[in-house]
Amino acid sequence: MIKLAPSILSADFARLGDQVRRVEEAGAEYLHLDIMDGHFVPNITIGPQVVAALRKESGMVFDVHLMIENPGLYIDGFIEAGANLVTVHAETTPHLHRILQMIKKRGVKAGVAINPSTHPSAVEYVLEMVDLVLVMTVNPGFGGQDFIAGMVPKIKAVRRMIDAAGTGAEVQVDGGISAVTAPVATGAGATVLVAGSSVFGSPDPGAALREIRKAAETGIGNWELGIGN
Ligand code: DX5
Ligand code: ZN
Repeated sequence: MIKLAPSILSADFARLGDQVRRVEEAGAEYLHLDIMDGHFVPNITIGPQVVAALRKESGMVFDVHLMIENPGLYIDGFIEAGANLVTVHAETTPHLHRILQMIKKRGVKAGVAINPSTHPSAVEYVLEMVDLVLVMTVNPGFGGQDFIAGMVPKIKAVRRMIDAAGTGAEVQVDGGISAVTAPVATGAGATVLVAGSSVFGSPDPGAALREIRKAAETGIGNWELGIGN
């Protein structure tokens, strides 16, 4: 089953509660929260306070994407704020295994993200510990960038690794996902789609979300059937 994870990065921050309600009513499974520190990525967004405020407004799975250095210092804060899934970038820590252990110990789901230039082997030896691998399809930091088509083979490679390990982990894609690129991603084996500007840049985020889901579902099965592999 395909899960949609609208990213509030492109939402109207003056009306966050309302924006979140709209995508929840439209059936979004995850709410994707982009945390940026101005060091790992050249942008700054929100901290645990905003996550905690939104937690009171929503029952969605809170998918916290940490684009921050020293992620270990902040994991507890985001879990206390209501994160259900915490994803850390493999590039941000020499102790990825330990950080993932910390997340799992707190009883929430753990994800690992890799930048476009990072080889999928970066996640190979932590695969057994993760619930999700996030393949970045843009360079992290900003919404509204174009999907990097060269990441499609990487989505397939990660899907293959997970299937071989038999862990059932999700493959998430983030960046440039729209009704056009969604079926390409699901056709390569992605199961969780993050979408920011294509949802919140639309006058009707709920309708945009439904359109992306419909398109994404046309890509399902291509991976298993070997179409385009
Ligand atoms: C980028 C963020 C994304 C961003 C995606 O660094 O991780 O989650 O919101 O935005 P779009 O969907 O507009 O590419
Ligand atoms: Zn993100």
